[in-house]
Amino acid sequence: MVTLKEKYKDYFTIGAAVNSKTLKNDKEVLINNFSSITCENAMKFGEIYDEDNGYNFECADFQYNFAKENRLKMRGHNFVWHNQTPKFIMENDREKVIDILTNHMKIMNDRYGDIITAWDVVNEAIEDKSDEYLRKSVWRDKLGEDYIKEVYKIARKTINKGTELFYNDYNEYIPNKLDKIVRMIKSVNADEKLIDGMGMQCHINLYYPSVDDMRRAIEAYAALGLRIHITEMDVSYFDFNDESIWDTPAPELVEKHAKVYGDFFKLFREYKDYIDNVTLWGITDDYTWLDEFPFRNRKNWPLLFDVDGKPKNSFYAVTDF
Ligand code: GLA
Repeated sequence: MVTLKEKYKDYFTIGAAVNSKTLKNDKEVLINNFSSITCENAMKFGEIYDEDNGYNFECADFQYNFAKENRLKMRGHNFVWHNQTPKFIMENDREKVIDILTNHMKIMNDRYGDIITAWDVVNEAIEDKSDEYLRKSVWRDKLGEDYIKEVYKIARKTINKGTELFYNDYNEYIPNKLDKIVRMIKSVNADEKLIDGMGMQCHINLYYPSVDDMRRAIEAYAALGLRIHITEMDVSYFDFNDESIWDTPAPELVEKHAKVYGDFFKLFREYKDYIDNVTLWGITDDYTWLDEFPFRNRKNWPLLFDVDGKPKNSFYAVTDF
């Protein structure tokens, strides 16, 4: 049977978000189909750093060692985010926060940098509300309005040469937010290229966005001279506010799911000169964050392999070309 990574070898690398449990449960599917992983949580500052005991590398080490043993590359995720950040940051002044962040980047780079091809340096800094620009964040409070540029300067000095520095965000295809992301990247890159790439999360659903929305976004980011990674793709069965619960999706929706995947991957193939990696936010439908979000305990089927690790129609839709 064809595998994702073989089918796409002339286009871009294919990645998956993992945790220590899915690495064990879905090992075969993962190593046959994917050539890079992203730690779903294990490398986030608030996960790897415990307020009382300092760094605890156990989980991230396990995932990194798995990647090395199986010759997978990694996307580093992430350094600066308004979520999952240790609270002690709040108790320090600007200079100290700069030290803490520099030191943190150095520690992560020294320990994991040999197989990390790109880091999501800043995650989700742009506000969704149309009349506001930057989102509230402890980093912004501490480092000031220009914090994004400052953070990339630190990363540029600290992270291995050759490792690309990405900005990563969701709703990255909604025109108003897209414009603000473009504005931010232009201002950060105005004097020197600090951001190498745009991470388009691509958490989409059966109904939204359209392929043309996504095409416009890819073109806008590519026009900034950036490399593009699709960093967290999944296709939810539910529109954002839809609270329905089903045991299994209706057959026509299974077909629609396959069509959406097929159409978006076709678009990505068209832009292969700009897109270097497409990462799915999970391996199989056995585990997906969407079973808990935006509602708890509501089953979703957003990936390419079913709960038993078998390829779905959506898998065939992206590999049949
Ligand atoms: C965002 C983050 C990811 C992850 C998802 C939900 O997209 O970038 O790290 O937390 O939310 O799983």
